[in-house]
Formats: sequence, structure tokens, C-alpha cells
Amino acid sequence: MKVTIVGAGAVGASCAEYIAIKDFASEVVLLDIKEGFAEGKAMDLMQTASLNGFDTKITGITNDYSKTAGSDIAVITSGIPRKPGMTREELIGINAGIVKSVAGSLLEHSPDVTLIVVSNPMDTMTYLVHKTTDIPKNRIIGMGGALDSARFKYRLAQALEAPISDVDGMVIGGHSDTGMVPLTRHATRNSVKVSEFLSEDRLNQVAEDTKVGGATLTKLLGTSAWYAPGAAVSALVQAIACDQKKMFPCSALLEGEYGLNDICIGVPVLLGKNGIEKIVDIELDEAEKAKMKESAEGVSKVNELLQL
Ligand code: LAC
Repeated sequence: MKVTIVGAGAVGASCAEYIAIKDFASEVVLLDIKEGFAEGKAMDLMQTASLNGFDTKITGITNDYSKTAGSDIAVITSGIPRKPGMTREELIGINAGIVKSVAGSLLEHSPDVTLIVVSNPMDTMTYLVHKTTDIPKNRIIGMGGALDSARFKYRLAQALEAPISDVDGMVIGGHSDTGMVPLTRHATRNSVKVSEFLSEDRLNQVAEDTKVGGATLTKLLGTSAWYAPGAAVSALVQAIACDQKKMFPCSALLEGEYGLNDICIGVPVLLGKNGIEKIVDIELDEAEKAKMKESAEGVSKVNELLQL
């Protein structure tokens, strides 16, 4: 199993680290345009192998896509990250050009690759890859919902004063401050609905804190977050590599599901060796449907900025 990660910045490197620690891939290739940077990160990570007990071989490459040949899975993290006060949407001009060219270069050497898109604005970048390549739709996956759901569970656990392992919940919709739809009605603590323990006001606060999860960290760190994004990507890579058929909310191309068409947006999917093996169409109530529709309108507006 060969996994390529394009972009050896904080998200790409933390993703490589989590994949290696879980020790399910034989090879991870880190590629970056900055001379020597990916090589350095790869060497540093390889020097943790004996300490952390993994056999995954991590190599670093400066911009030579021939070394990515035969990748089963590739992760695109390249592009500029958010600065404090910036929305993910403001990155579109620069990142669209980068993501399009990276996807093309990866495909030249790995025609059967499954792509995971992380660069922002993520739903629109995922849509761009669908529109500009002929990769089958099940092999293009946008990573946002897995991260947003992890942030939701963190906030739920805080509100419940519970350990995170007691909590389950999911965020669907666009990966943006206004587009996320945390499904508070479905969230549980050990299979009991969290509404049994938390007031409507407290749950609304949890949802609001979840939606600005990325912006909160960008303000604190001066750039966008990396540990949870890296861990979320590594969970998707593992689900595909190990054919786990696990359910995650991911940005998928919709053709009628959730009443939406010609858009990539976060919905629950099953991930296995064929990438997105099923889009899970769950029953939403009227309020959730309205939020999903509004979220899709927001994503479509950003998609219109693409010069396709
Ligand atoms: C975030 C970036 C990865 O939400 O979109 O932290």
C-alpha cells in the first residue's frame, strides 16, 4: 500500500506521522515544492520509527511526481492555509490552480489512484477535481466532515463533562464556518440522545462552537490547525487502505442524494477499498433539510468562482 501526501506542511506531515504510527501502509511518500523540505520532514519522521514502533517507510521528494508512481491513495494538502480573520473561501484563487495541477501530475503516474482533497475551500476544490479529471466519482473524496465531527465530539464531551469516547455525533454540510450542519438531534452519549442531558441553548452553543472550530484555532495559532486535520485524513486513508467500510461524513459528488445535484458537500459515506462505496442517505427533519439546502447554496456560490 503506497500513500502519497502532496504538501509537507503541518497538515501533510502530521498526516504522514499518524499513518506511520498506525503502521498499516508499507510506504508513504511526502512531496513538496520547497527544495529539501519534504526530505527533511521524512527523515525526521523516520527517526521516530524505532521509538514509536512502526515499519512504514516514509520518503521525501522535491516536486518529482515520477517518484509517486503506483500510489494507491494520494492526499492533496497543498495550497496556502488560512491566516487569522480569513475565511476558507478567500483562498480559492491561488489554491484552485495548485490543486488542479497537482491532481493532473498525480494521475499521470498513478492512473488508478484514490484522491483525498484537503486543500481549502475544500468542497469546491473537490468539485474542481471532479470537473477537471476523469477519475470515477467514488475515487475523489473531500476531507472535512471527519474533522468537523471530531471537533463536534470534543465540544459535546466538554458540555456533557464526559469522556470523548462516550460521545458520538456527526457534522454534515459544507466545510465552512457557516455551512457546517452539526446533527445535534442525532448526537448520543452511550446511545442516549444528548438532548436528555443538555438544554437546547447549550446544544446550540455546542453547534456554534463546532462551526467556528477551524477559525478559533486559526486565531490562536496564527495559521490553520494540523493535528486534528492530519488525524482525520489518516482515519480516511486507513478506512480505504484496510477496506474497513467505516462511515464518515465526506465531501462527495451528489447526484440526487439529499435532493442535491452537481455539487460536492459533506454527507455520510461508507469508505472501503473502492473509495466511497456508498452514500448514506439519512432521514433529515425539516430544520436539518433547510440548513443543508442553505449550506449547499453557499458551496454552489463558491463553485461559481471557479473558472471551469
Ligand atoms: C481546518 C482546516 C483544515 O478546519 O480546514 O482546520
